[in-house]
Order: sequence, then structure tokens, then C-alpha cells
Amino acid sequence: MKNLFLIFIIFLNLPFLCESAKVLLTVMDQGRSHATSITPLMHRLQKDGHLTALEMATYKKDMDFGMAERFINMSGFENHFISKDFFKIAFEDEFTFVHQAVPFFFGSISCNRILKHQKERWMEIANENWDLFLSDSLFSPCGYAMAEITGKPHVMMHSSDVESAHGTFKGFSRNYALMVPNFLPYSMSNFTTDKWWHRVISTVDWFGSMFITGGVAGFAQKWALRSIIPFPYFSFYDYNRRSSFSFTDMPDPLYPIGARTNDYFSFGTYCNPPKNQLTEEWAEFVNAPESKGTILVAFGTIIDWRFAPEEKFEIFLNVLNKLTDYRVVWSMKGERPDGLMTHVKVSSWVPQQLILNHEKTVLFVSHGGLKSVKEAVCSATPSIFMPMFAEQMRNAWLAKSKGFARILNKFHLSESYLENHIREVVEHKSYQTNAEHFLSTFADSPMPALDEAAFKFKRLFKYNGKMPKYFYPKAIDLSYIETLNLDFWVLIPLILCWLVSN
Ligand SMILES: *[C@@H]1O[C@H](CO)[C@@H](O)[C@H](O)[C@H]1NC(C)=O
Ligand SMILES: *[C@@H]1O[C@H](CO)[C@@H](O)[C@H](O)[C@H]1NC(C)=O
Repeated sequence: MKNLFLIFIIFLNLPFLCESAKVLLTVMDQGRSHATSITPLMHRLQKDGHLTALEMATYKKDMDFGMAERFINMSGFENHFISKDFFKIAFEDEFTFVHQAVPFFFGSISCNRILKHQKERWMEIANENWDLFLSDSLFSPCGYAMAEITGKPHVMMHSSDVESAHGTFKGFSRNYALMVPNFLPYSMSNFTTDKWWHRVISTVDWFGSMFITGGVAGFAQKWALRSIIPFPYFSFYDYNRRSSFSFTDMPDPLYPIGARTNDYFSFGTYCNPPKNQLTEEWAEFVNAPESKGTILVAFGTIIDWRFAPEEKFEIFLNVLNKLTDYRVVWSMKGERPDGLMTHVKVSSWVPQQLILNHEKTVLFVSHGGLKSVKEAVCSATPSIFMPMFAEQMRNAWLAKSKGFARILNKFHLSESYLENHIREVVEHKSYQTNAEHFLSTFADSPMPALDEAAFKFKRLFKYNGKMPKYFYPKAIDLSYIETLNLDFWVLIPLILCWLVSN
């Protein structure tokens, strides 16, 4: 009887079982940052009955991502992505499209090693009969190759916005001069497309990224994959061009409006309400009656204050010590630094979302990773961003242009500079008002973004992972010169000149 009932249940669910797809998300090495941007969408796909798994190279145990794991254990090898040189760049150097080649090199070196030492494991994962590969748009050539050698369709997943190079490869009709550069220089916090020179900077960033990602990083990836895809046949350009969709985590309301194609969707416009409450220890600290408000200082999972240059560390320590009217929570690994006063609480793990959503919180000081910016938006918290690397300056600029954040230039960091910025934000109501105003319209769309993304996936699965040809823009099959009509702009004046001169 029990068995009969079971069979009946299975029978009822048959149509859903048939529609369920097997999806593998492949991300960069130990790629928690990228994976967690995409995880909410993966969880949403699970709700629709799809099987989701995560592939990456791991060097140590990582968190639970709430999906099946297909990790490649590379412990014992060096993880280039956490080298000390990286912290030096983060605290002390400019980050441009040229630097973007470095993580692509790291990803290529790692992939080369995987194919040398763990090829069997890699093959086993690749050949698991996946219906669709979701590819991290950055630094994961071994993931791209899984789709290439199995001939299965793939989708590009962008943990921030679509990068300039990828956008070009896919024939997205973006006006590069009118976009804020992906790698906005740290000195251009007042970037505006109204200025000719600023549009030049945007254009250089766009074409520079295209050259670095397509050319330099593309070459490194061809080299990394040579044992399975003979040199030079892997093409990152074609890999993007042939992808059946691009999904990004960048919320549309934060970003400048631009042209959209059918095969582009941003699922990033959502806020997760906090699931639990502050523990007694934290609540007691932030609710102290003598406190004028809570300031949270948290620079994400990657930045490690123990490797910060001493003078930068001292500046933060001294300024935070001065804010005695407030309660300060400083997220950092390692021991509590000497000389810190009792209104500053230090912890290697901070309930960030709960603190940001707490009613006494008045300021968030952070690095401007997209997830931090979104947490600031969703909790309507006035912010100060000190961008450190990657596209963080651009993210900070987006927040600043919505009026709820200020930008700190890491090169100008001094005690008075930091203190002035902090006092400016906590003592002027406009940042709070703007944050609340922006949040009030932020997620106001007819359909929740994650549901809409899941709907688009459903349609994609219906067509076996690749939409019919009509769905894609013609520009994908044309060169950039043809797409932008540069051939006309150059050829026709030349012909006219020739006619006139004859
Ligand atoms: C990875 O491999 C190392 C030895 O090479 C082993 O000690 C470790 O437990 C493995 N990790 C996992 C998560 O399997
Ligand atoms: C932009 O910033 C620079 C220095 O950071 C300043 O000299 C300039 O006046 C600013 N321009 C505008 C339009 O605010």
C-alpha cells in the first residue's frame, strides 16, 4: 500500500521531474566571493526542482554553499589569489584594466596545474551529463573547458556587471563612452559623462579591457588549456559569443540605463530580509544608551587588516578611537589591536546584515564590493566606501551618485581626511534620507528579479539550453567594425574625398 502511494506521488510529479535540469556552476579558485553572488539564484533554481552544483578548485575547506559540491582538491599547492603582493596592490596601488590580466594569469596557472595533477577528477566532473554550464565570467578557464569539450550549452554569469570585454564579445549595444568605466580611476570620484575628457577615460577603459581580456588573458587561457584543446583553438572571445545567455548580479536601479538585448538579464535587484536577531552580546553593545549610533567598519572577506601597511592601520585605529560618542564595530581577523578603546568592538566574524539593519546603525565603512553596496542599499545605511581593487571604485561611484555614500581615496588617507568624511556623513541627514528614498523604489518591479531569472532559465531549458537563432542580436556574427558602422564612417568620407579631388 505504502509503495503504491509512493508510485502515485511520483506519477503526479512526473511532469516536474522531467523538466528538472542538471546545472553546474563553475567559478574561479576558492571563489567564495563570486559563488555567493550567484548562490541566491542557484537556490531559486533548486525551488523549481533543478539540480545545482558548484565546481571550483579548493585549497582549504570552504563554507557550505547550499548546493552539491564538485570541488577539485588542490590543497598543498599555492593559491596565488591570496598572495601578499595582492594586499600590497589593494592598499597601495591603482587598479586598472591592465591589472585585470593578473588574476586571469593566476586562474590560468591554476587550471594548467589542475589538468596536470587532477585531470581525472576534472574529466569526471565535466562528463557528468550536465544540461547546462554556468560560467563565472572571470578567471576560470578550466570551467569554460568543461563546456567546450562536452559540447554542452553555457551561460555567462557575472558577479558584478557585464565586463566591458565580455559585453563587446557578445555584441551588446552599449555606448562605452556613456558608461561609467569598469575600472574607474581612484582620482575620479566626481566622474561625469557630461565632460569630454571623462568620456575619453570611459572609452580607453572599454577598449583597454577588451584588449587585455581578449588578447592577453585570452592567450594565457589558450596556454592553460592546451592539453585538452590544442593550442591556439580555445578562444575566450568565441566562448562568450556562443554563450546562450548572460546573467548579472548588478541591480538595474543602481546602474546607468543602457541598451538591452534578449540574452541579458540582471537578477541582482532583491533584498533579503534578516532571518534572525542579534545575539545578546551584540545587542547589548549596539544598544548602549550613551551611544549616538553604531558605525560598522567591514572590508569584506578578502581584505585582511593584518597585512595592511602600518600607517594606514594606525590612521583607522586613531580615528575610530576618537569616535567615543558612537559604538564602532570593526570586522577584522586576528588579535584585538593594542590601544583600542572600549567603544570599539573587534571581531573576526560580525553579523553584518543584522547590524546594518539595526535601527541605531548610522554608518557603514567598507571597500565597495558589490555585495557590500547592495547590503547598504537594502538596509538604507549611509556609507563611506574606500575602494581597494577590481571594480570597487565604480561600485562606490554608483552609490555616491545615488546620494547615500561618500568615497575615500586610499592614496589620500590621513586622520583628518578620514575623520572629516565620517563626521560629514553621520552629522548630515541627507545621506540617510537619500538612502531611504533610493530603497523605497529599489525592488519595485512587477515580478521579483529572482523569479524572473528562474522563468528565463525555464524557457532556456525548454530549448535545451540555447534559444532559437531569432533570439540573438545580429551583432554577435558581425565584427565590431561592422556593428558600429565604422566601415561607413571611414570609407564614405574617403570615397567622397577621392571623388572631390578627381
Ligand atoms: C584535500 O587533500 C588533502 C591531502 O592532499 C587532504 O588532507 C584533505 O583532507 C583533502 N580535503 C578535502 C576536503 O577532501
Ligand atoms: C572633481 O574633483 C577634483 C579633485 O578631486 C576637483 O579639483 C574638481 O573641482 C572636481 N570637479 C567637480 C566638477 O566637482
